[in-house]
Amino acid sequence: FPIAVLASGRGSNLQALIDAQRAGHLPIKIVLVASDKAHAYALRRAEEAGIATLALDPKSYPDRAAFDAELFARIAEYQPGLIVLAGFMRILDPGALAPWVGRIVNIHPSLLPKYRGLHTHQRALDAGDATHGASVHYVTAELDGGPTIAQAEIPVLAGDTSETLAGRLLDQEHRLLVASIALIAAGRVALADAGVLCDGTLL
Ligand code: GRF
Repeated sequence: FPIAVLASGRGSNLQALIDAQRAGHLPIKIVLVASDKAHAYALRRAEEAGIATLALDPKSYPDRAAFDAELFARIAEYQPGLIVLAGFMRILDPGALAPWVGRIVNIHPSLLPKYRGLHTHQRALDAGDATHGASVHYVTAELDGGPTIAQAEIPVLAGDTSETLAGRLLDQEHRLLVASIALIAAGRVALADAGVLCDGTLL
């Protein structure tokens, strides 16, 4: 099952997919890792794993639509069955995204629909939440707004800072992402008009 991964930063979620694939736990082939940051550590991880990489600089394009059109055209050359946004820190142009809806997912560090956007760990702390978590969801034109496929939940502990919370959550993100991609690769999950279908049941 060919997948493309988009990442802007350190790429630990990408690494979780690479490791799971290597261990034989995930029937995927990562055909491309693309980034909007030429120095993203995610690209180094991909190179080390022998995966094709692509770095495009948004500043070289007149606007978001032009950048995203080029990005998705280049991704399409690799014919992925799924695009995974793993720490890709850009909002996507709705026109470029449209052909991929249902074949593109994101991992977001909150229990959606809580805390779309940035600073999710601090916002959970500020709200006094007893639990925090991460979500894998289908990407739609609405930022962090598409239907959720699966979530991982962790307790907020006394004395937690946004750093300790983010660190503990990251381990669960890796498990969540691998499990979610496994469901998708096995054809057990799909985006339906009414939401997410999992094994024939609407979530
Ligand atoms: C993760 O917390 C992910 O949920 C968020 O950005 C972070 C990326 O981490 N969207 P990494 O680059 O995969 O290490």
